[in-house]
Amino acid sequence: MSLLIAGSIATDHLMTFPGKFSDSLVVDQLDKLSVSFLVEDLEVRRGGCAANISFGLGNLGLRPILVGAVGEDFADYRAWLERHNVDCDSVHVSETRHTARFVCTNDAAHAQIASFYAGAMSESREIELKPIVDRVGGPDYVLIGPDDPEGMLRHTDECRSRGYRFVADPSQQLAFGEGPLIRQLIDGAHILFSNEYEASLITQKTGWSTEEVLDRVGTWVVTLGAAGVRIERKGEETITVAAVPDVQAVEPTGVGDAFRAGFLAALTWDLDLTRAAQLGCLLAVHVVEQVGTQEYTLGRAAFLQRLEDTYGAEAVKDIEPHLVTIRG
Ligand SMILES: Nc1ncnc2c1ncn2[C@@H]1O[C@H](COP(=O)(O)OP(=O)(O)OP(=O)(O)O)[C@@H](O)[C@H]1O
Ligand SMILES: [Mg+2]
Repeated sequence: MSLLIAGSIATDHLMTFPGKFSDSLVVDQLDKLSVSFLVEDLEVRRGGCAANISFGLGNLGLRPILVGAVGEDFADYRAWLERHNVDCDSVHVSETRHTARFVCTNDAAHAQIASFYAGAMSESREIELKPIVDRVGGPDYVLIGPDDPEGMLRHTDECRSRGYRFVADPSQQLAFGEGPLIRQLIDGAHILFSNEYEASLITQKTGWSTEEVLDRVGTWVVTLGAAGVRIERKGEETITVAAVPDVQAVEPTGVGDAFRAGFLAALTWDLDLTRAAQLGCLLAVHVVEQVGTQEYTLGRAAFLQRLEDTYGAEAVKDIEPHLVTIRG
C-alpha cells in the first residue's frame, strides 16, 4: 500500500530591507515607478504543502509518494526530500518553467512587497495518478492539497472514477475557488481537512450545511489552532483533541501541514481518529517552535515524553511501536 501526497511544491525567498519602502516612493511619479532596494539578507525556505506533508511523513518513518510539478531547479530540493525518505520519482519536471516561488521583501516598518510565481505548478494538471499507482501499489490514501486548480480537479476526478480513497485538503484554494469547484474537490472524500476559518468558507461557498458536507465526506477534521482539533462524522459523536500545551511559538507557517502528516501516519498504522489527532498535534508543535516548515528534527526520548505528558501512557503504548526510524 502507498500514500500519495499531491499538491504544491515551492520555495519562499524572503528578504529584509532595513529602511522604509515609503521613503523611496515619489507619489506623483508612481506611473514611472522603478525602484530597487538593497536588502540585508536572503533566506530561502523549502515549502509547498505537498512537500511539507511528505517531509513530515518521511520523518515519522513512512515513505510518501510526492505528486506535483516542478522545474529543472528542483535538484537540491529533491535531494533534501529524498534524504528525508520522500519518494520523488513521480514528480513531474517541466521543460520550460521553474519551480513555484514566493518572493517577498519586508521593510523595517513591516510593509511588504511580494510576488508569487506559480510556474511549473500549472503542469500538475498533466499528471495522471494511474501510472504512479502502477509503480508503487494501490494507495491507502491520495491526499489532494492546494495546487493548480485544474490539477486538483483532475486528481479528485481520477480518484473518484478509479475508486482511490482520497483526502481533500483544499486550504488556501478555498479563498479563490467558487462554489462549484469546491463542491467537486470535496464530494466523496474519505477525509476533509480544514481549519475553522476554511470550514466556514466551505459551507458558505458550497451552500451545503455542515450536515450536508458530512453526507458527502467520511470524516471532517477541523483544526482550531492552539485550541486543538475537532473531528466530525455523520451520526457519530464529535471527537475533540486538545493541542499540546506550553508551546514556545516562534512561527506558525506549515503547522497545518505537519498536523496532516501526523494524522495520516497514524491512520496508515491503523490507529484510531483520536490517536491520529494526537500525533498530528504533536508533530505540529515541532513546526511552530522553529522558523521554517521543514527545519525540525525529531528526537525519540523528547518526542515520547511530550506525547506521554500531553496524552498519557496509553497513547505512547499505541504509537511508540510504529516510530521505528526515530532515534535519540
Ligand atoms: N500555538 C499553538 N500551540 C499548540 N499547537 C498548535 C498551535 N498552533 C497550531 N497548533 C497545532 O497545529 C494544528 C493546526 O493548526 P491550525 O488550525 O492553526 O492550522 P492552519 O490554520 O491550517 O495553519 P497553516 O495553514 O498556517 O499551516 C492545531 O490543530 C494544533 O494541534
Ligand atoms: Mg492551513
